[in-house]
Amino acid sequence: MQARVLGAAAGGGFPQWNSNAIGCRRARAGDPLAKPRTQASIAVSHDGEQWFLFNASPDLRQQIEMTPCLQPRQGLRSSPIVGVVLTNGDVDAIAGLLTLRERHAFTVYGTGGIQAILNANPIFDVLARDVVSRRSVDIGTPTRLTLADGSFGRLTVELIAVPGKIPLYLEDSSEPPVIGVDDTTVGAVISDGHRRLIFIPSCAAMTGELARLLHTADVVLFDGTLWTDDEMLRSGVGGKTGLRMGHMSVSGPNGTLAAFERIDVGRKILLHINNSNPILLGDSPERAIVEAAGWEVAYDGMEIQL
Ligand code: MLT
Ligand code: MN
Repeated sequence: MQARVLGAAAGGGFPQWNSNAIGCRRARAGDPLAKPRTQASIAVSHDGEQWFLFNASPDLRQQIEMTPCLQPRQGLRSSPIVGVVLTNGDVDAIAGLLTLRERHAFTVYGTGGIQAILNANPIFDVLARDVVSRRSVDIGTPTRLTLADGSFGRLTVELIAVPGKIPLYLEDSSEPPVIGVDDTTVGAVISDGHRRLIFIPSCAAMTGELARLLHTADVVLFDGTLWTDDEMLRSGVGGKTGLRMGHMSVSGPNGTLAAFERIDVGRKILLHINNSNPILLGDSPERAIVEAAGWEVAYDGMEIQL
């Protein structure tokens, strides 16, 4: 099994279009220690020929053009992309589906809750239903992923419950959203029968059940949105805490670094990193802290061999 990070940044990307904060200014200026990153997504394949996307970011068109293995190789029209697995219904996870119109056959996998979000929005009918299948996957049920010829490939995906919230655009503006476990935010355990890659771009808290699932995974790609819960407030770029947005922080006693101290994982990689998070900067003390704790910081184009 192999994986490719298509985008390592959180919603908005790095630099974010309307941010003039120092990190984004450094990225725009071409500072090699502030490498730009597109919005979070990975591609996974068993054979290197047929690929599954995990989330479809608004930057998907650019990501495909940066990634030769995802480009057409046969005939006048084709694509090695045979499926898209969705782990939430946020703009940064689903907007790229619109890029995949043009009557290419593939399967969209997601929980009933995420399929309901797509079904409720007719813009996604640009993915013609006679060509693009939408398949509901129950949490906790390993599902074989389907190849271009309709047969099952070697990869299975199991969607797992993680604490989170409904997408921002579905929030009721009169009250803050419930942060909890339902089927609109999940993680994905991807397996080829031997190795396990776990993709969790959005997670509000570590639970005992999640820690047990993560234990002994070969590779984990985990929510690296914010360094501290209040960093957007303190730096003046936003009015929300990380928890309000459904993301646990990387640092702190309830943070990701602390949570993983007790979890045995082969390779730990942070992705879905917000443009305000100092770990994006190669010369920051925070980057040194995560690396000293055994974490890698994902970047666009990162290749992962399992
Ligand atoms: C998030 O990860 O919190 C969302 O992508 C935010 C958003 O919808 O912009
Ligand atoms: Mn996001």
